[in-house]
Amino acid sequence: MKFEIHPTASPTSDKDRTAKLADPGFGRVFTDHMAIVRYNQAKGWHDARVESRANFPLDPALAVLHYAQEIFEGLKAYKRDDGGVNLFRPDANARRFRSSADRMAMAQLPEAVFIEAVEQLVRIDRAWIPGGEGSLYLRPFMIASEVFLGVKPSAEYIFAVIASPVGSYFKGGPAPVSIWVSENYTRAAVGGTGAVKCGGNYAASLRAQAEAIEHGCDQVVFLDAVERRYVEELGGMNIFFVFEDGSLSTPPLGTILPGITRDSIIQLAKDAGKQVREEAYTIEQWRADAASGKLKEAFACGTAAVISPIGKVRSGSGDFLINGGAAGPVAMGLRKQLVDIQYGRTNDPHDWIVKVF
Ligand code: PLP
Ligand code: COI
Repeated sequence: MKFEIHPTASPTSDKDRTAKLADPGFGRVFTDHMAIVRYNQAKGWHDARVESRANFPLDPALAVLHYAQEIFEGLKAYKRDDGGVNLFRPDANARRFRSSADRMAMAQLPEAVFIEAVEQLVRIDRAWIPGGEGSLYLRPFMIASEVFLGVKPSAEYIFAVIASPVGSYFKGGPAPVSIWVSENYTRAAVGGTGAVKCGGNYAASLRAQAEAIEHGCDQVVFLDAVERRYVEELGGMNIFFVFEDGSLSTPPLGTILPGITRDSIIQLAKDAGKQVREEAYTIEQWRADAASGKLKEAFACGTAAVISPIGKVRSGSGDFLINGGAAGPVAMGLRKQLVDIQYGRTNDPHDWIVKVF
């Protein structure tokens, strides 16, 4: 699909952009452009454009505003030391976007169009990619844009990509994070939408995340919806456990988001000859293994968070520390390995990198 490129008539000045890039935080600073493609049943996907980032005209009866038919993705562009730009596994995000669309009864965007939209936006907003440990967070998303109040799949969609220069997701960088075990709320049940990236999952997680913050924690961790014992994932990250015999485990797919970082870590750990189990793990076992020393580390992972060691776990039934609350060598080693691949500082044995420049 050919994108029409319309550079903005009022770009941010170099001075203002440099000031914004100095300390971008996460998700508050945006670039000058967006990519957008429209869908309707008569024309299919059409009108692909890169243009000034601007408001959408929103009819108050727009389907997404009422029934939340919405999906999104998250991936990053990284500046290499030679000045070039890498994307990390954009094909995996494009595939997951299609599977999210399928579950939400939305139009399927061809994977090539998803990748082209992301690449075009990175090209035009290249100057917004921070150097150092920063990156450009790309947020592709799709909304139901039919003006209709009946409950049915929308006949029209808007797909768009926006971009936000980011530093670390957590204020403390890769310092160990604390997590709150949600005993009152669950995230996903079998047959539900836990395995897809729809906005509704996040809306439903906010009360539990607020509870985590009230208890002084960075993130919430959810347990399974049936037995309320099996660790599933965090509000916006997957989770891994590291044991004294050097093996790793992570909760199995099904009701969790199939994280691209999770999949990459499994491959990197296996490359290094480590055993990785995708198996159910209960909160009771986690607590017991942390106390006995059988569990050496736990860490959270995702595009935004990269790899963040978990230092402390809090719940209504008491707190426990992991590795004395400190970052462990396995999490930090995997983090370095992954980040080195993303920034093109090392070889890329799985061909995960797509060079935009
Ligand atoms: N789980 C949830 C709920 C998420 O929002 C994310 C972030 O995208 C992840 C896991 C990690 O997924 P990925 O590694 O593909 O970013
Ligand atoms: C990501 O890591 O891309 C996420 O989506 C996590 C959160 C910002 C929703």
